[in-house]
Amino acid sequence: MGSTVISVMPLFLSLLILYVPLGGGTSPISCYNDQGDAVDWFYMYKLPKDHGRKSPKEGEKYLLLEKGSEGWTDGKGTVNDTTGALGRTVGQLYSQGKNTEVAYILYNDQRPPEEDFGDRWVDNSGSRGGHTKGVVLLDKNQGFWLVHSTPRFPPVRQAGEYYYPSSGVTNGQNFICVTYPLDRFRTIGEQLQINQPNVYDCHVPESLASLVPALAAICEKKHLSGHTFAHAKTLSNRSVTLTSKDGTNFISFAKGASFDNDLYHSWVAPTLQSDLLVQFWIHSKGILPSDCSLGWKVLDITLINPGQKFTFKASHDHSKWAVSPKAAGEGVGGGWVCVGDINRNEAEEKRGGGTVCQQDPVVWKAYRTAALECEACGGGTIQC
Ligand SMILES: *[C@@H]1O[C@H](CO)[C@@H](O)[C@H](O)[C@H]1NC(C)=O
Ligand SMILES: *[C@@H]1O[C@H](CO)[C@@H](O)[C@H](O)[C@H]1NC(C)=O
Repeated sequence: MGSTVISVMPLFLSLLILYVPLGGGTSPISCYNDQGDAVDWFYMYKLPKDHGRKSPKEGEKYLLLEKGSEGWTDGKGTVNDTTGALGRTVGQLYSQGKNTEVAYILYNDQRPPEEDFGDRWVDNSGSRGGHTKGVVLLDKNQGFWLVHSTPRFPPVRQAGEYYYPSSGVTNGQNFICVTYPLDRFRTIGEQLQINQPNVYDCHVPESLASLVPALAAICEKKHLSGHTFAHAKTLSNRSVTLTSKDGTNFISFAKGASFDNDLYHSWVAPTLQSDLLVQFWIHSKGILPSDCSLGWKVLDITLINPGQKFTFKASHDHSKWAVSPKAAGEGVGGGWVCVGDINRNEAEEKRGGGTVCQQDPVVWKAYRTAALECEACGGGTIQC
């Protein structure tokens, strides 16, 4: 009997050690999956409420696609769980506690509610700042950039713990998380400067400020000028290739207010040399119809079914993503997927924001099969 105890103990201890990195301060700042493994990148599709079902967590379920997977997989729990991919990833902000050597920027044109940060909540949907939402978190080695579409997400660091707000439950939402080495955050900061984000919480320690000067400037500006967006001489737009920690290339498209044009039709499609099917929030005013001028067909998606779960209208989806109708290799420029924070409407032509694109066959198939029906150029509904 004694020998059983002795042989079981080491296994038990080694399991403990395996799990310690999540709670300890030594795990790398990274995107994490549902299992708690650091991953190079993931896409998350938070599904809208399925009105045909009445389960209590309806509207908090998601599909996940990470590097190495073969397509969408069902999320293990809900977007509100601290043990899910989103909770583990964004949760690093709160679990860092008093670690002042970590830099972070939280930005959202729809800030979290006032009780979270002791400031007056302002709905900036109509403001001149960027229509842009995201999280940047890094230390002296590496970090992640999460671009998403969820209003009032995530909570400020002072909130002390991760949660997903009720404002993001009813509609579909998208997330792209990519893990990058430190030096990439120099460029990411410059892209964000072009986006003119509404920063509602941030910290860039002195030890990192000279390494990521644009992020430091964005954070500084928040403290100096609050809600004003006085941008003297920023670029109107710029696209850059960002290589992830493990070597995957992404293209970041960032535009500012002065770009004054539709991101997808005037810039992304011609740059990628690809037609695009675009999902966006169609409840805003001045929606841009599908546009087949300039040599590229940019079609508004109207009906969606990611992962063949259930079919919903674009009007129930607050996500902003675009996919090439054709695979890579079928003619020029196929196989792209872009996930970002800008809609196709008149007001957002004059707002900052952008999208992050990747040409990967698995990601392409996951998004391409989600697009069922589109608006034809000139009107009418067609199969995408
Ligand atoms: C998320 O979890 C917190 C704490 O468990 C809970 O108070 C909150 O109502 C949940 N939010 C949603 C949108 O489910
Ligand atoms: C800005 O966008 C235009 C298309 O409107 C494109 O031709 C140009 O190359 C972009 N500029 C940069 C720096 O990416």
